[in-house]
Amino acid sequence: APLLLLFSFVLSGCSSILGDDASPLNPKGSVGEDQLSLIKLSLFIMFFVLVVVFVLYAYIVVKFRKRKNQTGVPKQTEGSHVLEIVWTVIPLVLLLILAVPMVSQTFALAKDYSETKEAEQVKVIGHQFWWEFQYPEHGITTAQDLVIPVNTKIAFELTSTDVIHSFWVPGLGGKMDTNPGMTNKMYLDAKETGVYKGKCAELCGASHALMDFKVIVVTEEEYQEWVAKMLEPTQPVAEQDDLALGEQIFKAKCMSCHAVDGTQGGLYPNLKGFADRELVAGIRPNTEEWIKKWLDDPESVKEGVLMPDVPLTDEELDALTKYLQSLTLE
Ligand code: CUA
Repeated sequence: APLLLLFSFVLSGCSSILGDDASPLNPKGSVGEDQLSLIKLSLFIMFFVLVVVFVLYAYIVVKFRKRKNQTGVPKQTEGSHVLEIVWTVIPLVLLLILAVPMVSQTFALAKDYSETKEAEQVKVIGHQFWWEFQYPEHGITTAQDLVIPVNTKIAFELTSTDVIHSFWVPGLGGKMDTNPGMTNKMYLDAKETGVYKGKCAELCGASHALMDFKVIVVTEEEYQEWVAKMLEPTQPVAEQDDLALGEQIFKAKCMSCHAVDGTQGGLYPNLKGFADRELVAGIRPNTEEWIKKWLDDPESVKEGVLMPDVPLTDEELDALTKYLQSLTLE
């Protein structure tokens, strides 16, 4: 009981340091819960070993200490079959206690839901330094914000176009590498709606630490609405509209890389619904100030990005920013 108490203090301390409601220590999905139970089990075993070793150590140091008036070499003992068997069998048992649930959960996690109707399919593609999410069942492509329905298994297929990244949603579970040229599989679910932090967990270049994303968990109804809106074509701006200049610049300078229709793929982030996203470039608040900073000098926001520094006059920058801010799903 005192150990468990100490353990719970340690855990509560960690979650507050992480500064997020959902963390590996406070998971909101079944995969995260299973992983937490493994963390607890291994920590418990570690504490147990630590305590036994320290108690034995203290006992031996005190009991066999050198006493006053004691001279010469103490009695030497060599070999003990009983002791050797004891300290071989105990670790063996501890390892087995750890191994059985760990192996069974590893197999459970690797279960392939990609062909089943019960799961929603999402393809995750890591790029330096952003995330692409494809929904093959709906024909949707998006970036940075991963929208998923609550209480549903999401079957992920993970890959990369350049180097190895790692897809991690600490509050839900994971993680899994995205490797160029191969596909990994993993599933996750979320038991509560909300916004969860996602991170790249594999050193992948200058802006590895900035390669964040968001997981937006919504109700099934909201999810279907979102899918329908993503499938709607983005309407062109009327000629006399004050967004017309922005659209014109977008078409001339941005559209060769960025699509604004959710049904189009493309090598670079799809911007359908960009204005609804929480962040610019996955890391900064989606405000006029940061959009301008990003357009003006992408390298200053995210070192090593492939987004080129497109020359724009102040007027063009204003117009383009306004146009991007009009890209909502409403
Ligand atoms: Cu991508 Cu680290």
